Amino acid sequence: MNQKIFIKTFGCQMNEYDSNRIYDTVKKIGYQKTENYEDTDCYVLNTCHIRDKAKEKVYHEIGRVKKFFRSKQKPLVIIAGCVAQAENQEMLKREPYIDLVVGPQSYHKINEMILNYLKKKKKIDETEFDPISKFKYLSKIKNQTKKISSFLTIQEGCDKFCHFCVVPYTRGPEYSRPFNQIIDEAKFLSDNGTKEIILLGQNVNAYEYEDKKLSNLIFEIEKIPEIKRIRYTTSHPKDMTDDLIEVYKGSEKLMPLVHLPLQSGSNKILHLMNRKHTIDYYLRIFDKLKKINTNIEFSSDFIIGYPGENNIDFDKTYEIIKKVKFINSFSFIFSPRPGTVASNLNLIEKKICMERLEKIQNQLYENQINMNKSLEDKVINVLAENPTEDGKKIFGKSEYMTSVIFSGKDKDIGKIVPVKIIKSNRSTLFGELAVNLNQKVA
Ligand code: SAM
Ligand code: SF4
Ligand code: F3S
Repeated sequence: MNQKIFIKTFGCQMNEYDSNRIYDTVKKIGYQKTENYEDTDCYVLNTCHIRDKAKEKVYHEIGRVKKFFRSKQKPLVIIAGCVAQAENQEMLKREPYIDLVVGPQSYHKINEMILNYLKKKKKIDETEFDPISKFKYLSKIKNQTKKISSFLTIQEGCDKFCHFCVVPYTRGPEYSRPFNQIIDEAKFLSDNGTKEIILLGQNVNAYEYEDKKLSNLIFEIEKIPEIKRIRYTTSHPKDMTDDLIEVYKGSEKLMPLVHLPLQSGSNKILHLMNRKHTIDYYLRIFDKLKKINTNIEFSSDFIIGYPGENNIDFDKTYEIIKKVKFINSFSFIFSPRPGTVASNLNLIEKKICMERLEKIQNQLYENQINMNKSLEDKVINVLAENPTEDGKKIFGKSEYMTSVIFSGKDKDIGKIVPVKIIKSNRSTLFGELAVNLNQKVA
């Protein structure tokens, strides 16, 4: 069989990882990746359920595909990801254009599902939580990603049940992959050209396999000579244990940006959210890390307008964003998710939420601008990833995940190079290669 497959991915990095692994899997039955949905034989929507009208967005998207293929051969249509998990057979009932539904812990069965469908035209949904078999299967077919910076999922699911969040229902209970399976995948990625590994999990710092924790994993990956940088996301403050904090002392390759979602600056709201941490607890982690390395910066996620948030609570969130000087952060208006504890609470007026969000985002932008400005005229280390679209410059990332565009050579790609920053805006640093400038790295 020689067919094309197109995957449209929504949501978090874990969905991006999954989409790549679906591409790796379907190759076995003759499906090749296409970037062009117009001529695909198989159209996969890898969906996200975290906010907004996720379900409706999926049906809307299917409507568009249906319209486009009206006078053409209909592609095989598959819904994957977290909406697929939440809705399962409802989707097949509501939209006959959908052929198969597969959840995030069962997509290793996708080949079987496709072949069976092509033979018998039987529509099925596969939404079992089976991460053990999934990763066993995926480790055999190998991760074919050939990128400078690659994702590597090490942990799935969540047992924390924050009242606003749908993840425990869509990804299932916490599961950590076997230690050696992860190291093998990291080595394989490195052999294929990866220089930076971003370890992924909905609660990545809850990783625990036999006596091994995330700290052990980082030290082991650090031993792979061609891996130059290590990051991990997303963490929960409760799992920011001392052994992980200590890694920042000894590790050469762990980057100094800690993404640690806080959600709110008010203890009252954190309690209502069932976050299981307080502001003091969070600030203690901040202090410990800053003591180890003053260059460590924090990024975070914030939910604005959680039911019960009054002006005082909101001001606390605003103040802590100023105090910690969070950079590279995300903020969202609370979105009630079906099936969660917070789904039926009284919502705060939309206009108030919008005003609060704008104020928070402006402060986050200001933090980012200040951070970027502070790097002007300095030399920083950049991992060069690819040429810019016009081919004239090189695109890379700073240690703090900020985009850098600089005048460099194609031969720099895959290397960490010193770049002198000349100017900046909110999202990007612009500079030139500093090899001959004889300046110290900031
Ligand atoms: N495990 C991470 C943690 O504990 O913070 C969060 C992972 S979640 C996939 C990413 C972010 O989405 C959360 O940090 C939260 O800010 C946001 N989020 C989750 N549910 C939300 C909701 N119902 N409404 C708005 N934002 C939400
Ligand atoms: Fe969701 Fe993170 Fe809370 Fe788990 S810890 S329920 S993934 S917000
Ligand atoms: Fe979305 Fe599922 Fe990720 S709900 S954020 S794709 S874990």
